[in-house]
Amino acid sequence: MRCAGAVWAFLGLAPLLVMSVPPIWTQPEQVHLSYTGVPGSMVVTWTTFNKTESVVEYGFVGGRPFEMSSKGDATLFVDSGKEKRRMFIHRVTLRGLKPTAAYVYHCGSDGGWSDVFYFTALNDSSSFSPRFALYGDLGNENPQSLARLQKETQQGMYDVILHIGDFAYDMDEDNARIGDEFMRQIQSIAAYVPYMTCPGNHENAYNFSNYRNRFSMPGNTESLWYSWNLGSAHIISLSTEVYFYLKFGLELLFRQYEWLKKDLEEANRPENRAQRPWIITMGHRPMYCSDDDQDDCTRFDSYVRLGRTDTKPPAPGLEDLFYRYGVDVELWAHEHTYERLWPVYGDKVYNGSFEQPYVNPKAPVHIITGSAGCRERTDRFNPNPKGWSAFRSTDYGYSRMQVFNATHLYLEQVSDDQDGKVIDSIWVVKEKHGVSAWL
Ligand SMILES: [Fe+2]
Repeated sequence: MRCAGAVWAFLGLAPLLVMSVPPIWTQPEQVHLSYTGVPGSMVVTWTTFNKTESVVEYGFVGGRPFEMSSKGDATLFVDSGKEKRRMFIHRVTLRGLKPTAAYVYHCGSDGGWSDVFYFTALNDSSSFSPRFALYGDLGNENPQSLARLQKETQQGMYDVILHIGDFAYDMDEDNARIGDEFMRQIQSIAAYVPYMTCPGNHENAYNFSNYRNRFSMPGNTESLWYSWNLGSAHIISLSTEVYFYLKFGLELLFRQYEWLKKDLEEANRPENRAQRPWIITMGHRPMYCSDDDQDDCTRFDSYVRLGRTDTKPPAPGLEDLFYRYGVDVELWAHEHTYERLWPVYGDKVYNGSFEQPYVNPKAPVHIITGSAGCRERTDRFNPNPKGWSAFRSTDYGYSRMQVFNATHLYLEQVSDDQDGKVIDSIWVVKEKHGVSAWL
């Protein structure tokens, strides 16, 4: 009997013992790629729970396996939750890659290696027609579009993924274990193509620390705002959250605004705009939307659009800035729906013509795509949208974009609810870019 009692006592403890088994501390996980903006480069980012070396071994597909190797660094990230969980985020930049060549790679150290992944080095020609998948608001729970995105990415349908804020719901939860789990989920996409991001409101915990630590975007703002070029596009990623989380510093809002102005000025220098005529922005919270909630975009005086007058000094909004520098397309998320707007500025529609609204539009084109899937489900629309609302859908899904050439850009919306059916599409055609295109 005593013996049996001991067995039961042991079995009773067993679940506890299992729970306390630590992860394999030196095993790489959460592998993802990003582009530095420098042709012929790629950043590989991953996580281990103990400090190890940071090595990527790689080679051409079909060539000698792992004939090249690059080293990088790991930074310690201590989550600010109760448990103060520690992890090491490894970053290795591969340089001198041959544009359009396919590579196989794995990452890690002699303490453990990842699975083998592959990627194509981005084509650096301005005549390249890159294909993007884009969405916001993809969570760890109910990530409805993820399976379709996994398959399509692995089939080679996309050159880049844009995740327009709101990850995991939320990365900091359960002492950042939800962040770990989410990064494992997206490895099936993000280890194959650059996964380019901007922050959303769901990243705000501990001053966006999970976001700032886990991603490796270009520039030196810890991935908060940056720009890069691909094909005939100049792509600007920004934080709309600087308009809302003033507790983290109003100076961030002004720093970003000044940076945006300089970046747009530079992109508009005639030689630059001639080479990269499309200017595309991505930010989480839209300036306009017709959802049935009380979000910023439902208000005429949206902070993102018009700025804030309740700060000292008053904070400028983004609509005028983007209009003045001839931004062509503005990509947003946050609303858990899809909405395409007619070309709009100052709350007014400026279609190219009645028959062809997106041919030589006289104002930027806005797309809101935040229905990838998360635990908050989809949102509802206001039954009486304003005149700028052109198409709306509450289906789960995501968008695709191809920057075809200097004059043609294609956008479409995929419904995951309808088995991948394309439910909306437009060609934006511009013979002219820049502010003179509005005249
Ligand atoms: Fe959001």
